Parts: sequence; C-alpha cells; structure tokens
Amino acid sequence: MCQTVAVSEKVDPDRRDWWRHAVVYQIYPRSFADANGDGIGDLAGLTDRVPYLQALGVDAVWLSPFYPSALADGGYDVDDYRAVDPKIGDLEQFDALVAALHGAGLRLIVDIVPNHSSNRHRWFQEALAAGPGSPARGRYIFRDGRGEKGELPPTDWEAAFGGSTWTQTEDGQWYFHLFADEQPDFNWDHPEVRADFIKTLAFWADKGVDGFRVDVANGLAKDLSEPLPDAARLKTIPAGPDHPFYDRDEVDAIYREWRRLFDRYDPPRFAVAEVWTDLPDRRLRYARPDSLGQAFNFDLLRADFAADQFRSLVDKNLAAAAKADSSSTWVLSNHDVVRTASRYGLPLAGADDGAYPPPTLARDVAWLLSGGTSPVEDVALGLRRARAASLFILGLPGSAYLYQGEELGLREVAQINPADRQDPAFFRSQGREVGRDGCRVPLPWTTDGPSLGFGPGPAHLPQPGWFKDYAVSLQAGDPDSTLALFRQALSQRHALLSGLSRSDEAFRWLPAPAGVLAFARGDAWQVWTNFGDTDQPLPPGEVLLASTPLEGRLPAAATVWLRP
Ligand code: NOJ
Ligand code: CA
Repeated sequence: MCQTVAVSEKVDPDRRDWWRHAVVYQIYPRSFADANGDGIGDLAGLTDRVPYLQALGVDAVWLSPFYPSALADGGYDVDDYRAVDPKIGDLEQFDALVAALHGAGLRLIVDIVPNHSSNRHRWFQEALAAGPGSPARGRYIFRDGRGEKGELPPTDWEAAFGGSTWTQTEDGQWYFHLFADEQPDFNWDHPEVRADFIKTLAFWADKGVDGFRVDVANGLAKDLSEPLPDAARLKTIPAGPDHPFYDRDEVDAIYREWRRLFDRYDPPRFAVAEVWTDLPDRRLRYARPDSLGQAFNFDLLRADFAADQFRSLVDKNLAAAAKADSSSTWVLSNHDVVRTASRYGLPLAGADDGAYPPPTLARDVAWLLSGGTSPVEDVALGLRRARAASLFILGLPGSAYLYQGEELGLREVAQINPADRQDPAFFRSQGREVGRDGCRVPLPWTTDGPSLGFGPGPAHLPQPGWFKDYAVSLQAGDPDSTLALFRQALSQRHALLSGLSRSDEAFRWLPAPAGVLAFARGDAWQVWTNFGDTDQPLPPGEVLLASTPLEGRLPAAATVWLRP
C-alpha cells in the first residue's frame, strides 16, 4: 500500500515559506544558560550559545515566554507583552539576540500568550481597582457569583491545573481563568484586547522576529452567556462551536486579522498554533494560509513507540496538512510533557482511544507520582527508542520541533524536592499531579561547576547528580553520542531536502516486515524504523545514518537512513 502526499518545493534559506520544513529548537529561557550567575537562564546566556545552535544545525529557535512575569506559570503569566523580564534581560539584549541568530542564519519565533495575562498586568490591576460594572472589567471576564450573597463561583468548572476556573475578588465578583488564579483570561470580544495584541505582534515583528508560537490558540473565543453547563455536562461537549471556550468558530476571525498583519511583512511572519485536539480537521483551521500557517500536531506525545500507531498518525497528519496547504509538525517533546527518553523507557501504554487522559499520559503521570520508581525506567531502551524516533520524524515531510536537551537524550528528573517545585499544577492539584518541573531542569553543559556549566552559580531548579553524564562537553567530542547523532541528522537532512524538488515523490510508504515502517523521500532517501523487539534484515542500500550500530541488521528499536 502506498500513499503519496503533495510535495514540498526546493528548500532555500530565503524562501518565504522557510517554516514548512524547518527544524525548530524550543528554548525555555530560564533553564537554558545563565550568563550572570543568579541561577536564572537569561538572554545574554542564550546569545552566547548561538554558535552551539548553529553547530547543531537547527533552522530556527522558538523562545518560550521571556516577558516580565512573577513566574506563577513559568512565564506564561505575562505582566507586559512588549518588554523583557528584567530578571533575564532587556530589549537591547533582545535585539542583540535577534542579530546573533540572524547572523548565524537562524530564525526566531517568540511565544505569544493571548488567552490570559498575569494578574499583575496593568489592565488587570486597573480592573480590580475600578470595581464591578466598570469598563476596565470589560477587558477580562468578571461575573457575579451564585448563592444568596454571590458567595459561590458562577460555575463548578475545574481549571486546567486544578482548582476552580473562578477566583473571587475582594469586592465579591469572580473572574474567569482557564489556568492558574494568576492568569485571568482576556475577553476577546473587547476591541481593545484585539487592538492591543495587534500592536504587540507588530512590536516584535518590527524587531525582526520571524514568527510566533501561539499559546492556547484554541481558547480565545468564548461564549459564557447563561445558561452555562455544569462541569459534568461540560465534559460531554466536544471542543468546537458548541463548547463555551475551546475551539469555537469565532477564533478564525481573530487569526485572519493577525494574518493580515503578518502579510504586511516581507517575508510574511509565520505562526504556529498550540491546539490540543485530536481532530485534525478542526486543527486545520489554524494552519490555513489565511490563518496562522501551521498548527502543532501533538499526536506523537499520545502514542507509544509502536509501528501501527506511528503509521496511522503519519497518514492522518500528512493528509491534514496537505488539505490545509500547510505542513505537518512533528513533536516528541516540549516543556509540558515527560522527556522523550524517559517516556520511551516506560512500558507501552496501549493505543489512544480518544478518551482523556490518553493511556500514555495517564501512565506518565502515575510514574511521576511514584517519584520515577514505578515502573522502573529502562534507561537504555528509552534512549535507544528516542534516537530511533528522532531519526524517523526528521525524515518525514514537514517541520520538526525539538525541545532543549532532547538533542542530548536527556531524561526526566522525576525526583524533585517539593520545596524546589515551581509548577502551579503541583500546587493546585492537591497532589494529583507533580507537574512539569522535571523536564525544565537547567541544561548540563559541562561536568563540573555549581550548575554543570549552566551558569557561574547554582541553578534555580537543582540538577541531579546523573545530569553530568549528559553534558554537552562530554557528548560534543563523542561520535556515538546523541548530540553527534542530531548534528549529523540535521546536516544530512538539509542536504537531502535540497535534493528534493516539486516533481519528486515526496513521501511514499515502502513495503516492510511487521513492526517495521519504511518510507521513501524521492529516489535517494529512505527511512527504515524497526519498532519491534527483534532484529530484522537490513534493507539493501548505502547506509547514510543509523540511530544505533547496525552490524548488518536492522536491530530492534532502531532507524536507518539509506540511499537505495
Ligand atoms: C500551554 C503552555 O505550553 C503551558 O506551559 C502553559 O502552562 C499553558 N499553555 C498556559 O499558558
Ligand atoms: Ca541570569
């Protein structure tokens, strides 16, 4: 059985649609590199490491929020959208970063958080001070409570990190937040909210940023008119036009306006939507050329390392991307999920049946709750599978998003002292979740020093002793290291993609033994992945790259790139 999907154009660094095949490296700035030694990663530290990113061979950086923030949610609680957090830099240093990245041939995508501000944002402070019924409250979502004295929240809904979606103010009114109390949701029906985000997008686009990653892109449009469903009924309403806040049709108009702004730039600015939905057709709306341009496909985060699951989600997503005239996005890791090498070291969880939480996620949460002790992580297998999966996705059409440390094969830090934890999910869920700190521990750059080369002082989240085994300095000189594998993969990918043209067959499944997936990109590049646990014969051809030593076989949990 063969499936062919529309082809990409010749890859050219000056292309207006550079993003279609870009490998984008996500940086969580407070945990990447700390130049001044206060324990918090900063823009100067990041700028110093641009040569590292260039040598790695990524095409672009996605910078997670760097705005002023009290860090109630790792920076996704923004005080001021057109400034840099003084704890990590200033606008001049931001300009220096853009110049350094562009000078190295790398693009920059910045995170934009339009669903909610922080409770320290000037507008929210104004709203609190102005009182019920004031125009200032109109920019957010304020309601009177239920009960005789309004002492009950307007609904019994639960926020994403646990607790209520409503918080009561001193004057008795309640405000709505999908996430933490410190993250009040904007009212996107308010023209000033819309206008202000246009101003923010233009501000960064004028500074030369190449694109935006749009946080909770599917949450902006809301219809909270009465009667509102209770929590039990809310769970039965699918995201979409009938849901009070997820994926309503009205979001389209917001992004069409953004697109008009993006298209005023040359090259046009690009954006990728964060949309957690398993319905590719709904996701498409965000990816279309008259909308943001691309939407994250998180299906791999909900899948096991299993051939049938990978195959069906590749088919589904390539078809969806082609239909939207976009390109697919492949994601094995980000700052919200258990690191890939650990996830793949846990027993397979079973196929996703569409229910929430999916089996893989439920397994990961239970594992984190056990402090990483149950089940026992198979470290070698996890890394082996992670390397194989990475070469698999880097061969696929579309763009790939890597999360800092993924190129090191870094594992999740499952044991963190409760006093060191930072994630609101830990504090708000009453122990049902431990949260996401374990994938946000500052990177190990060297094997010594107070924070393994992260900075001259101790790191804001302590690194475990075993982190040093993953240090960049150890891996950089080792041809068998995961870092070396990524460097080779990215440089070969560039060369191989530039050999593809619109007339080539961009993607074609090849016949393969059970448990193996194989595909061809044009005539000169084949990708073979053995998802099973027994060795298979090595297909004929010249081996370009392999995720593990081959010894004449296609070993279990391995990927090989071949020229047939
Ligand atoms: C999605 C982000 O990736 C996550 O880190 C954040 O907590 C929520 N959006 C809320 O902004
Ligand atoms: Ca610092």
